[in-house]
Amino acid sequence: MEEAALAADVVRDNYVVGALIGRGAFSCLFVAEDRRRDEAVVLKVTDTTEKTHEIICEREAIILKNLAHPNVVELYARHAKVAGRYDVAALEYLRGPTLDAVGEAIGALREGFVRSVAMDLCGALRYLHAHGVLHRDLKPDNVVLVGLDATRPSDGENPERAVLIDFGLARTLSPADVDLDSSRHALDDSLSKFTMDLSAVGCRDYAAPEVTRGYRGGRKAFEEALAPCTSKYGVAADVYSFGRVLRHAFCGTLESEAPPLAALCGVLSRAMTKSRRRVIWSLRKAASESARDAVDGLTRRDAAARMKLSEFEAHPWLNAGRAPVLLASPKARAAELLDCAMDLSARRRSANRAAPEMKRSPSSTLKKSPSFAPTEAAIADDDREDATPEPSPAAESRTL
Ligand SMILES: Nc1ncnc2c1ncn2[C@@H]1O[C@H](COP(=O)(O)OP(=O)(O)O)[C@@H](O)[C@H]1O
Ligand SMILES: [Mg+2]
Repeated sequence: MEEAALAADVVRDNYVVGALIGRGAFSCLFVAEDRRRDEAVVLKVTDTTEKTHEIICEREAIILKNLAHPNVVELYARHAKVAGRYDVAALEYLRGPTLDAVGEAIGALREGFVRSVAMDLCGALRYLHAHGVLHRDLKPDNVVLVGLDATRPSDGENPERAVLIDFGLARTLSPADVDLDSSRHALDDSLSKFTMDLSAVGCRDYAAPEVTRGYRGGRKAFEEALAPCTSKYGVAADVYSFGRVLRHAFCGTLESEAPPLAALCGVLSRAMTKSRRRVIWSLRKAASESARDAVDGLTRRDAAARMKLSEFEAHPWLNAGRAPVLLASPKARAAELLDCAMDLSARRRSANRAAPEMKRSPSSTLKKSPSFAPTEAAIADDDREDATPEPSPAAESRTL
């Protein structure tokens, strides 16, 4: 079907299309070479005969074109109505498997691996929220792990970066940014034909309780999904999904909040498919106490009590093993430099005492000491910042 889109002039003129590399709910993704950029891209081709699909593509493009972050997929170009009915988006080519594929292959993931993914996703979400965007469809298939060669990473190997994709259900917190109201009237026909259970919030397994509360599916929920903004829930909904994704990564399965019978069916079906994935049924067994504390904070059912991303970022689990970055204040830096200068001058003085014939004028000493010159400049800079430098032993060192 998508052949018609790939054969269209606008696609052939701009891209050399290669293999199919992914399939989504409504789209097919092909790797391609962008003739102008001279680099590989991904073409996301969606049949937009259904008005709903057109709106999803439109929204994804409007939102992505205003974003630029290493952990958010980049949109290069969008071609609408290709061959009369397709939407073709050219995206950054992310080389690596999805978090879902890695989880499927090996099950429960190592804590260091999960931490590295968590850091990146936290950065992406903080960036999105700061730009007034809710992703609303955060799940393992929408996270690509760039830099992993295979779905089974070798021991100790972490992805270079985890990147968030699929902004079809994302929306802005400001109604003014995405005005889709006019298109909603055109939805009437397609909605009655719309049979898929596209929840108002993407995948329900990862959705926050405040989002799914009262959700029954059907037309009302779908209209809600397409509305440009909501007052019912906010950034905390993404935070919950993020926590669920991390729980999944730790356990190798989605911990079910479903009744025990459904969980039992899950175990049986796994046993029948002879899955070799390592599955740990509770986070308590899968992760350290510190990790559990962080993930539990993200997945609190009460949105108001849920951990904020800023708190998660400062959590000891996320920072474990990371060398503390001490950012010295200008004053502290100046004090350190002055200490060095004093030490140097003391050594010079004792050297001069030992060899008086080598004595030079203070200025010549300073000029001839290249390593000292920047120190002088730095001290001068910091003095300017501090406005009135205190007379100190350091002043002496400068007039040596
Ligand atoms: N930029 C990309 N680079 C590499 N693979 C991608 C990229 N975008 C999507 N994919 C692959 O295609 C799949 C479907 O893409 P997605 O955007 O989620 O489609 P949909 O919106 O239809 O769910 C993903 O799960 C992933 O495997
Ligand atoms: Mg997807």
